[in-house]
Amino acid sequence: VIDVAFTRADLRRADVAVVVDVLRATSTATQALAAGYRRVLCSETVELARDLRGPGRVLAGERHCVKPAGFDQGNSPLEARERAGEELILATTNGAPTIVAAARHATRVVLACMLNLDAVLRVVRRHGAGLDAQIVCSGTEDAVALEDVYVAGRLSAALPGERTDAARVAEGVARAFAGPYEALAASADAAALANAGLTGDVTYCARESELDVVPAVVAATRRLAVIADELRRDDAGEPSLAADSDGTVSV
Ligand code: MLT
Repeated sequence: VIDVAFTRADLRRADVAVVVDVLRATSTATQALAAGYRRVLCSETVELARDLRGPGRVLAGERHCVKPAGFDQGNSPLEARERAGEELILATTNGAPTIVAAARHATRVVLACMLNLDAVLRVVRRHGAGLDAQIVCSGTEDAVALEDVYVAGRLSAALPGERTDAARVAEGVARAFAGPYEALAASADAAALANAGLTGDVTYCARESELDVVPAVVAATRRLAVIADELRRDDAGEPSLAADSDGTVSV
């Protein structure tokens, strides 16, 4: 079954969760791995990201679209093109917490955006038509985000198997737009990014299937998800990660 969660609140148990935050967290994580970062550590909070700072680690993220105080860069795929360390710590408002939450619900979690659409489809199709997959839209502050539903619809339409009504709705949304740029540019999140002077990120996030990278969760705690490229897992190494009961982590 191919299902779509329009926001994090619709998360359910599934074999595979495909998390989408095309503007911009999953685009940034995909671009970072393509640039040669070994891992991306998705942090539920800005505070935890700051605690994780260390040699070889680059802090990236946003609050209200802009870089939090003390961070090295924003939640920007354009900025992530230049590798500045070994690991990118990523703290964002919606995408990073959705990835962490998805790791609690699904056996496998991969991250999708327009930049890696074909690569994700290739990996998910390997599970065959009997697959139970939920495409999880990160949304914006608990509300539906048009651009994520567009990407979910594109993914759903290209996967085999039965569909839920939610998946059919997403496919209908995807069919309503001429292409990814039109869909992303029509969203409220694109308008917010334009207000912050970040239109270049919207244009970049609309580029389709340019990166052969499938970010996948390789370890997780209650507040952190460790991401490596599914297509180059052997290079990523096993992360050593410990969590206290309060969610404190040492990685
Ligand atoms: C988020 O996680 O809330 C988004 O990626 C926001 C953004 O575009 O930076």
